[in-house]
Amino acid sequence: MKVINMGTKAQASFYVACELYKEMAFNAKCNLGLATGGTMTDLYQQLSQLLNDNHLNVNHVTTFNLDEYIGLAKDHNQSYHYYMNKVLFENYPHFNEEQIFIPNGVAQNEQQEANHYEQLLKQNGPRDIQILGIGENGHIGFNEPGTAFDSQTGIVNLTESTIEANSRYFDQPDDVPRQAISMGLSSILQAKRIILLAFGAKKKQAISNMLKLDPTTDVPATILQTHPNVEIYLDTEATPDHLLNKTVK
Ligand code: PGA
Repeated sequence: MKVINMGTKAQASFYVACELYKEMAFNAKCNLGLATGGTMTDLYQQLSQLLNDNHLNVNHVTTFNLDEYIGLAKDHNQSYHYYMNKVLFENYPHFNEEQIFIPNGVAQNEQQEANHYEQLLKQNGPRDIQILGIGENGHIGFNEPGTAFDSQTGIVNLTESTIEANSRYFDQPDDVPRQAISMGLSSILQAKRIILLAFGAKKKQAISNMLKLDPTTDVPATILQTHPNVEIYLDTEATPDHLLNKTVK
């Protein structure tokens, strides 16, 4: 894993926006794995800016989002469908809608929806770049501690700590969904290249655990140690002390 302190969220986000932009520009079969959450806001803002400034053709681009809350419809203002529309797809309305994939959180049969999503992932082949955030408890996607490393897309129960962390986005704590459909850990690891972003002091311990612990389901992000092509971009606050001012491979 390559880990680097980029100083600020803005700087790290701009760098990663350029990486996504380059992939879209040079790869005729560009397949991207996208993430949501507070971590990603600057990334999509910068990417939207690059796309608009340069009128890039994105008709060929396929995107797969990591997860969606169960029970939230596409137009619910805390659903990840809504988030993606607001931060990217409405800002640059030139993506091919048939190639934008986000699990349906209000599917009649949630398990069937999860299985179908996994099938779509397989059919489309490995993502060229998978963007990831990390939870304070070390989750990636919504794969909470205890999730099997060979998990595929499925229905997941959110832990109390995740529900609490997410409550900052909802008016009432009781409004925070308790379940989600999430790409599994093995689904995430199929990507050719993985880029993880983490900002702020609250993520520092999770980053430290991810780097230092032997792979353990207690900290799902430790599975990334087994992938050959992972880059981690941090701000200073999220960077473990032993890595400050250093780049390690
Ligand atoms: P956040 O979530 O970006 O809102 O902090 C990240 C995550 O839980 O993966």
